[in-house]
Amino acid sequence: MIVAIDGPAASGKSTTAKMVAKKLKMTYLDTGAMYRAVTLALLRSNTDLDDYDSVCQVVDELELDIYDQGAKTVVKLDGEDVSQAIRSMPVTENVSAVSAVKYVREAMVEIQRNIGKKTNCVVEGRDIGTVVFPDAEFKIFMVADVKMRAERRLKELHEMGENRSLQEVMTDLKRRDEKDSTRSHSPLQKADEAIEIDTSMLSIDQQVGKIINLVREKNN
Ligand code: DC
Repeated sequence: MIVAIDGPAASGKSTTAKMVAKKLKMTYLDTGAMYRAVTLALLRSNTDLDDYDSVCQVVDELELDIYDQGAKTVVKLDGEDVSQAIRSMPVTENVSAVSAVKYVREAMVEIQRNIGKKTNCVVEGRDIGTVVFPDAEFKIFMVADVKMRAERRLKELHEMGENRSLQEVMTDLKRRDEKDSTRSHSPLQKADEAIEIDTSMLSIDQQVGKIINLVREKNN
């Protein structure tokens, strides 16, 4: 069984998807973390992001591992734990450009589908219900007011020791939303049959409860 959770940056997908996975005893898959890991590999190797062949070469050579460990997702790049490094600002600033590259998407989608074949998963991202798992049993599209999303992201960044202003974070979110929604390959889009949840006024428990209820109602 696949529960697909899509939506723009900082709409509450990660926290919700993690808790839903835990409650339903399913695997949690953060596909954004995969695009972030590729971005980190490209930045570390000083690859020119406009040089298509070089980007493809780095993608072909990298070894990416992603798995749940207790309550957290571990992301390994060539054996090194990069779970923290992929959340840094340089990665965040470049990830939309990297995830717009078709070759990168195809490589990531293949890994995502292989994981989904092996286990019941709650998968969060931008194109999960539309492209990666179009036959997912459950499709959720989470949205929230941009200021609300920026406040949430700012809190996360402060907890990681990154000092940013609300305005900076809001500008970055808007820029990423625009890029992620207008790219030609698998743009951020609500699947026709997805259920939209506006999390602006909801607590995490309410968001999780809504999804759990949907799954339980259909499965009973
Ligand atoms: O969920 P996130 O903010 O960590 O995702 C980082 C970036 O990865 C986001 O700006 C768009 C991209 N992404 C994507 O294109 N497709 C996905 N399925 C997941 C993320």
